[in-house]
Amino acid sequence: MEVKTSLLDNMIGVGDMVLLEPLSEDSFIENLRNRFDHNEIYTYIGSVVISMNPYRSLPIFNPDKVEEYRNRNFYELSPHIYALADEAYRSLRDQDKDQCILITGESGAGKTEASKLVMSYVAAVCGKGQEVNKVKEQLLQSNPVLEAFGNAKTVRNDNSSRFGKYMDIEFDFKGDPLGGVISNYLLEKSRVVKQPRGERNFHVFYQLLSGASDDTLKKLKLDRDFSKYNYLSLDSAAVNGLDDAANFRTVKNAMQIVGFMEDEVQSVLELVAAVLKLGNIEFKPESRCNGTDESRIKDKNVTCVYLQAYYARDALAKNLYSRLFSWLVTRINESIKVTRHKVMGVLDIYGFEIFEENSFEQFIINYCNEKLQQIFIELTLREEQEEYIREGIEWTNIEYFNNAIICDLIENHQSGILAMLDEECLRPGTVTDETFLDKLNTICAEHQHFESRLSKNSKYITDHSLPHTCFRIQHYAGKVLYRAEGFVDKNNDLLYRDLSQAMYKANHSLIKQLFPEGNPAKVNLKRPPTAGFQFKASVGTLMRNLQTKNPNYIRCIKPNDKKASHIFTDSLVCHQVRYLGLMENVRVRRAGYAFRQAYEPCLERYKMLCKRTWPHWSGPAREGVEVLMADLKVPAEEFSYGRSKIFIRNPRSLFFLEERRRQCLQNLATLIQKIYRGWKCRTHFLLLKKSQIVVSAWYRRYQQKKYKKIKSATTVVQSYTRGWQVRREYRKFFRANAGKKIYDFTIQRIMQKYFLGLKSTLPSMSPIDKSWPARPYLFLDGVHTELRTVFHHWRCKKYRSQFTEEKKAVYEEKLEASEIFKDKKALYPSSVSQPFRGDYLEISKNPKYQKLNSAMEEKVLLADVVNKINRANGKGTARIFLLTKNSVVLADQKTGQVKASVPLPDLTSVSVSTQSDGFFALKLKEGSASAIKGDFLLSSEHLIEIITKLHRTGATAADSEQLNIDISDEFLVQFKHDKVCVKFIQGAPKNGNSVSCKRKNNRLLEVSVPTTA
Ligand SMILES: Nc1ncnc2c1ncn2[C@@H]1O[C@H](COP(=O)(O)OP(=O)(O)O)[C@@H](O)[C@H]1O
Ligand SMILES: [Mg+2]
Repeated sequence: MEVKTSLLDNMIGVGDMVLLEPLSEDSFIENLRNRFDHNEIYTYIGSVVISMNPYRSLPIFNPDKVEEYRNRNFYELSPHIYALADEAYRSLRDQDKDQCILITGESGAGKTEASKLVMSYVAAVCGKGQEVNKVKEQLLQSNPVLEAFGNAKTVRNDNSSRFGKYMDIEFDFKGDPLGGVISNYLLEKSRVVKQPRGERNFHVFYQLLSGASDDTLKKLKLDRDFSKYNYLSLDSAAVNGLDDAANFRTVKNAMQIVGFMEDEVQSVLELVAAVLKLGNIEFKPESRCNGTDESRIKDKNVTCVYLQAYYARDALAKNLYSRLFSWLVTRINESIKVTRHKVMGVLDIYGFEIFEENSFEQFIINYCNEKLQQIFIELTLREEQEEYIREGIEWTNIEYFNNAIICDLIENHQSGILAMLDEECLRPGTVTDETFLDKLNTICAEHQHFESRLSKNSKYITDHSLPHTCFRIQHYAGKVLYRAEGFVDKNNDLLYRDLSQAMYKANHSLIKQLFPEGNPAKVNLKRPPTAGFQFKASVGTLMRNLQTKNPNYIRCIKPNDKKASHIFTDSLVCHQVRYLGLMENVRVRRAGYAFRQAYEPCLERYKMLCKRTWPHWSGPAREGVEVLMADLKVPAEEFSYGRSKIFIRNPRSLFFLEERRRQCLQNLATLIQKIYRGWKCRTHFLLLKKSQIVVSAWYRRYQQKKYKKIKSATTVVQSYTRGWQVRREYRKFFRANAGKKIYDFTIQRIMQKYFLGLKSTLPSMSPIDKSWPARPYLFLDGVHTELRTVFHHWRCKKYRSQFTEEKKAVYEEKLEASEIFKDKKALYPSSVSQPFRGDYLEISKNPKYQKLNSAMEEKVLLADVVNKINRANGKGTARIFLLTKNSVVLADQKTGQVKASVPLPDLTSVSVSTQSDGFFALKLKEGSASAIKGDFLLSSEHLIEIITKLHRTGATAADSEQLNIDISDEFLVQFKHDKVCVKFIQGAPKNGNSVSCKRKNNRLLEVSVPTTA
């Protein structure tokens, strides 16, 4: 079986005595010595720790070590008190089992130190936090206070506990300390008044005197000098390695931490001082006439029997001190007490004591140790064997010494030493230590463990080591000789009623509190219980308390009597090993099984080691465990199946199981981790996947959007292209035309409006009406003007259309006249309004002109009277002027005789002036017949009409050329032979309105024409 173990590997000697081979007392001691020499002060017997006092500090009590042992298996590391503390703490915390740690051993073996180590370990590993730390501090600091008042230097131990102490540390469900309760057992109060040689009074006296300030001492009325006080032994006042002054400060500080008020500390110190001073009271014997000795306090008037006076003084001092001590414990409990949850008890009770002179105190202390041994036997040896029987495990009984018989000798109700002592104390009549011893000699004579010179049993009659005033008891740890002297007194522990009443009357509140029986109102005539009785009762309570808890043992052994390191006294160790019953312990362990456990928790603990039992076993637990063991192939001799428990013989096997379990737990942790990681990864993966889907969805959407964009862009491009194509094709129908259409429409509309507007605003139909509506638009300018013209033409046409042919002819003539003369001849405007009558002479009607008329071949177109101008004088001769279609005729006015007839074609031109005169010259064609007489210079009032008609007729004549009309103010006229110039001038106003023609010379005729206004 290859198992890695620290307990068993690299061991000095053997760490667990159970594994010692061969097992003998010698090898046992040798193993202890071997380990002690190598600084291995702890050794196991199964789960019991043997602790050797090293008498020096070893580097194995430090925080690193605490960490090393924390949460480790008991058998995993080399033996240590921490391993035991850890085991106890964990089983308290995790399995809810109340624990007690029983520390036994004789005085100076290291019990108190061990108890402190356990407490400090628990304080280190349990929870932390402000509140928890405060509780821890209070629990730990209760130690220095109690040690100052309850410890003293003895020959065996410089810091010997002179009281028994049992401390319950209380924890909450998670293992954090909540508080505690301290029980104290029988303070050795006789030490207050008297100390054996080489020993000291309680530490506190020395601490107070060395450590207190001068001021405090003055207040307490104390002197620093130890020698001034009777109660302080002088021979060992200073102890090596003990700094009383420093310790005093520690104690005061501790008191403060525990929760003592300032005035409480003061009161306590006052009481300590009172005790000291009480010791200095001296009495002076005075003989009285009645023959008795009386005494009085020096200088004071108090009297009593002399010897009794000292006795009473000491009794008072002892009582005062022991009551103070009990009060201290109660006070500390007040600070740290809480309601009970889980409890770990630490018992540090005074060890077995054998002094040169042993008295009532030793008797009591050793009785207590007997009881503890008893409980050890009960729980480890007897209980173990009985368990095997109960469980039906094959078992050969191991012999061991059962000290029940000694306990019986001491505590038996009827014949026990304590019972007899009480009986003596209560008995009326003279009671002395001698009468008590006599009684013992009678009643206990036959007891195997009782030895006395004068007992009925004459066995010891010659034993000179046994003085007559003593008796001897064979304790489990050795024989002890007790002096009977003082037993009765100490058991009575009486205080004179006067004293307690006096104390009650004190002004000091603490003193008053300590002596409640002094209250006169509560006078109790019943005797108070004896010291022995009280002790027996409290030990009984303690034992019952311990029995309800899971015990953990630390068995302390002192290696030498010299309080020296490195010395290992075989005989001394051997003695302790024997009386502690360690050999038996090992034997029982070896014969039996190192470990046992009920099937259910065992299966629960190891079921993961086998596939069939993991994770659930459905059958009975025992079968499960069997399957498990078979599966693990643990050798059959290594374990046995009891009725309700499995017994494992060897720690190795247990450790094998533990180791496998540890590995398995690691695997399980890995499995959990694996599944968790798988789950975590998967969750993460799923999350990623989900995210990826979201991302890709978005991406696709984005892509699609992009595609859609492209698509829509394409569509746009396409639509533009198509649009472009279509437009190209249909442009003619669309864009260009639309505008034009609209334009046209608009224009049309405008035009329509314009025309309609125009229609309603047209001017009158009179051709001479010059008015015309305003043009609405600039662009209509042309049209507007055009329309005006058109309109004008139209109305002219209309106007014209009303004309008859005659009228038309008249107008045609007028028109022609205008064409010829307008703006050329000043006479013209005056002619416009005068109608062309043509025949002014009424030639066809007037009989005067009948002949003439008939002479005319053609119809006369014009008949008028004109003046024929003479070349000679410029005077005119009246002549009738006729115009026919073919010719011009000039006839005499009076006769009507034709003077000249000129065919029209012979006329070449007509000359007229530009002025308003009626002169005109008819020029004849040269060479024609008519021309012989020369041209005609005529004047007429109807010049315009004459010329016009002449022009018209000439134009219509078939063979005539166009008649020239020559308009100028100077023209030549061909008279018969010569040409005469006719010149027109602007006439002077003196000539009046008439035109005058004068011959200037042969060649010039001057016509003066009046100016027209
Ligand atoms: N583990 C230890 N390491 C060092 N010194 C120790 C140890 N245990 C005890 N001692 C020494 O032995 C002395 C007596 O121990 P203590 O515990 O007071 O004995 P007990 O309480 O059994 O009478 C202590 O003052 C100390 O000097
Ligand atoms: Mg002690």
